[in-house]
Amino acid sequence: MSPELERARVYEEENEKRILPEERPMFHLSPRVGWLNDPNGFSYYNGLYHLFYQYYPYDSHWGAMHWGHAVSDDLIRWLYLPAALAPDMPYDRDGCFSGGAVTAPDGRQLLMYTGVRKEKQPDGQIRDVQTQNLAFGDGKDYEKYDLNPVLTAEDIPEGGSRFDFRDPKLWQCPDGSYRALTVNRHEDGSGQALLYRSEDGLHWHFDRTVARNRNRIGVMWECPDCFRLDGWDVLLASAMDMLPKDFEYHNGNGTFCLLGREGEAENGFENAADFAVDYGIDFYAPQTLLSPDGRRIMIAWMQNWDTCNLRTKSRPWFGQMSLPRELSVRNGRLFQTPIRELEKLRCCPAFYENVVLRDGELTLPGVKGRTVDLEVELKQDPEGDPLRLFRLRFAANEQHYTDLLFTPEQSILQIDRKFSGSRRAIIHQRRAKVRHCGGALKLRLILDRFSAEVFINDGEQVMSATLYTDPEPGDIRFYAEGSVRMDVRKYGLKSAV
Ligand code: FRU
Repeated sequence: MSPELERARVYEEENEKRILPEERPMFHLSPRVGWLNDPNGFSYYNGLYHLFYQYYPYDSHWGAMHWGHAVSDDLIRWLYLPAALAPDMPYDRDGCFSGGAVTAPDGRQLLMYTGVRKEKQPDGQIRDVQTQNLAFGDGKDYEKYDLNPVLTAEDIPEGGSRFDFRDPKLWQCPDGSYRALTVNRHEDGSGQALLYRSEDGLHWHFDRTVARNRNRIGVMWECPDCFRLDGWDVLLASAMDMLPKDFEYHNGNGTFCLLGREGEAENGFENAADFAVDYGIDFYAPQTLLSPDGRRIMIAWMQNWDTCNLRTKSRPWFGQMSLPRELSVRNGRLFQTPIRELEKLRCCPAFYENVVLRDGELTLPGVKGRTVDLEVELKQDPEGDPLRLFRLRFAANEQHYTDLLFTPEQSILQIDRKFSGSRRAIIHQRRAKVRHCGGALKLRLILDRFSAEVFINDGEQVMSATLYTDPEPGDIRFYAEGSVRMDVRKYGLKSAV
């Protein structure tokens, strides 16, 4: 083992003790210690789910990237394993960036990741050069491949940049051959998704360009994934530096989906529909896997780059994953639902039907808490005035709260964490255009200690946001202007361990 990896392993083991279990999210994965960003190598190997992550153990800020590692048998309860990769080779000394995992022909686990190396250019500038590299392991310890890197500037089609060439996502095809989907910067300045193939997992060749941005959706793309689902070809990627587009895309980095009929991936997704994957504030760089029972499951970094490295209360950890979400395609949309294994944590139910809410605020006995699975179905109230505003206030006490605000006339659902306890001038609100019928709308709120994920209309849209509210505020309150009927199903979520 290299001294760099050994140092990281010793450090994380000694320092994870500084974090009390109640100071972490209850069922969302956070770093063992220090910093976490993108999910990497999300896969099922030897009877367990593996999730690696972009990791800097030594600080709660981004630094030279390692790969952290955790395993789970249900995607809810995670067990930390020792750090898997450290930047310890000439080709990755400035970071082991994002990548994927797959099972190698000999049964070992095969990781492919981006190695970053700073290099002085002829014009004197220092630039990051990015190559793809392999490591093989037994599910716990990994050895980098002697012949790394396996994909370099020479494998990029003409005009592509060797400075932006990263984030390979791996999968195995039914015929046993392998694919790696990477992103690269085209000479038009924006991203493209390049596909590579290999028969043995060791020798890789350029196959084709799967999609080109042409400066339509942000600029450079990151962390691509591609799969077939319900008769559709789906490409997910995260775009940097987006301009807003109606209520679909917001400024900054965000994740989009290209959705084309089966076969579209062969056309470069030229006729595919595009839309946002999450309409909230914190969601980036998702990866998916196919579970042994055939579910396409997605997990993402529940954070956004513009709200990192802020002057906040010092914590020994920063960054968390989203809840794993089951994907399906319905009516030309990508639906996401909380992974069903979450239901094992449910306790303390409180159900109400046809609660009439007219011009005022209401609380319901038993409907409270900070780790909660709450379904609220809004229905028209035929006897009352039309609904003008509905508000669901949660993680609330008199001083702090986060709101979901629904205005049927505009068809807008807004998440607002302005009063959540945040002390920074960051984005606190985001709005999404939602489908509803005369104010009838379905919401499912998954609340953990430091986050809220809102699944709208059975998962047709999702809004995710991190919260930095103290643990105490746990009230949930309903408010309406005009009239509405509600069905409310609330479960507490109990500790996963
Ligand atoms: C996306 C990303 C990736 C890169 C990694 C570095 O969030 O910028 O493109 O591999 O993070 O940590």
